Amino acid sequence: MLNFEYALPTRILFGRGMENRVGEEIRKQNGSKVLLHYGGESAVKSGLLDRVCRCLEASGLSYVLAGGVQPNPRLSKVEEGIRLAKEEKVDFILAVGGGSVIDSAKGIGYGIANEGDVWDFYSRKRIPEACAPVGVILTIAASGSETSDGSVVTNDRNKLKRDVGSDYARPQFAILNPELTFSLPEYQTSCGTTDILMHAMERYFTTVHNVELVDGFLESLMKTVMHNFRIVLEKPGDYDARAELMLAGSFCHNGLLTCGRKGDWASHALEHELGGMYDVAHGAGLAAVWGSWARYVYQTDVMRFAQFAVNVMGCVMDYAHPEKTALEGIAALERFLASTGMPISVRELGYKLTDNDIFSLADNCTDHGTKMIGAFRRLDYKDVTNIYKMAAE
Ligand code: NZQ
Ligand code: ZN
Repeated sequence: MLNFEYALPTRILFGRGMENRVGEEIRKQNGSKVLLHYGGESAVKSGLLDRVCRCLEASGLSYVLAGGVQPNPRLSKVEEGIRLAKEEKVDFILAVGGGSVIDSAKGIGYGIANEGDVWDFYSRKRIPEACAPVGVILTIAASGSETSDGSVVTNDRNKLKRDVGSDYARPQFAILNPELTFSLPEYQTSCGTTDILMHAMERYFTTVHNVELVDGFLESLMKTVMHNFRIVLEKPGDYDARAELMLAGSFCHNGLLTCGRKGDWASHALEHELGGMYDVAHGAGLAAVWGSWARYVYQTDVMRFAQFAVNVMGCVMDYAHPEKTALEGIAALERFLASTGMPISVRELGYKLTDNDIFSLADNCTDHGTKMIGAFRRLDYKDVTNIYKMAAE
């Protein structure tokens, strides 16, 4: 097990009606003027935005509305939010929505609290030294951004989707009411749940040994997610199943399940280029590349893939041929994803990649061949090209 530090500063308010406590939570954080950040239309249509406004007013908070965040949030929107927040002298940012809105809110928080170009943090030119306080009312179980240190933004000018992580950006509070996710379209439920599974897998496939306790947490989380995923596809309004997914999404990505180990994150790096270039939904992009990544790297540690196959996917261990079990586990996960409507190749995602497309993706993913990705197996430009080629078929 590796050395680690773990602290979760985000206060979680979980359950029915908890969004009605948003005003008092912002007051506890000494907020007085709120930037109310939200997405396209779902929070308006459901009446949630209106209820949040009334709640802020009842707590004596003033606010300014800043809606219109798109999935794969854009840098231009973050910059617009920074300008507005400065003009209006905002001292608290409330994100009402999913990962895209939360990540955009964190970007605005960085922009208010630091001088200079906010993209510098995403392009790794500079490290943020502060972030304005952010609170969250979550409407989709997916990214885990409600408790994570991450923010992922797409630069509209060069189509690069990049992330920055810092503890400054962890939200002050996350309000998680599973009922707020009942209105999700099936495709978004599937994308979000796939992302949760992938966050578990990025951590599970590690080369660090003696991490049994967290292995067990991750296996349990993956099984719970798959079980409840099936239930919500049948019954979108099943509170208990939605609650399991919401809790899993946050617990999976708040740092607890990284304790003592090193995650891989190659599938995320591969997806971010697809998201930047083609604006695909994050979870669907992950599903489209994961199987190709897994088949490319599984020989690095066949027994870990066999453990996944047996303990998570319910395959029977073939002791004489563990490699067979490892491959069965990969195929079983792909069958599961396909059964929930997720693409398991880039072609199924709707894109026919040419050789040039693949070279551009690999070029961006490895910073023109200067950077390697992944930790389970380190992957260079050639490896990344090979994986995109496999995923394209
Ligand atoms: O814009 P609206 O109209 O609200 O619609 C959204 C959007 O179209 C809709 N939606 C959300 N809640 C809804 C709803 N529709 C009906 N009812 C509801 N209750 O869902 C669509 C997707 O929303 P989005 O916020 O994009 O989804 P998600 O939470 O999956 O976030 C994806 C973003 O998070 C990043 C991804 O890269 C992607 O940009 N990630 C952020 C991470 C982090 N900060 O730690 C980690 C992740 O790995 C991920 O990379
Ligand atoms: Zn993700």
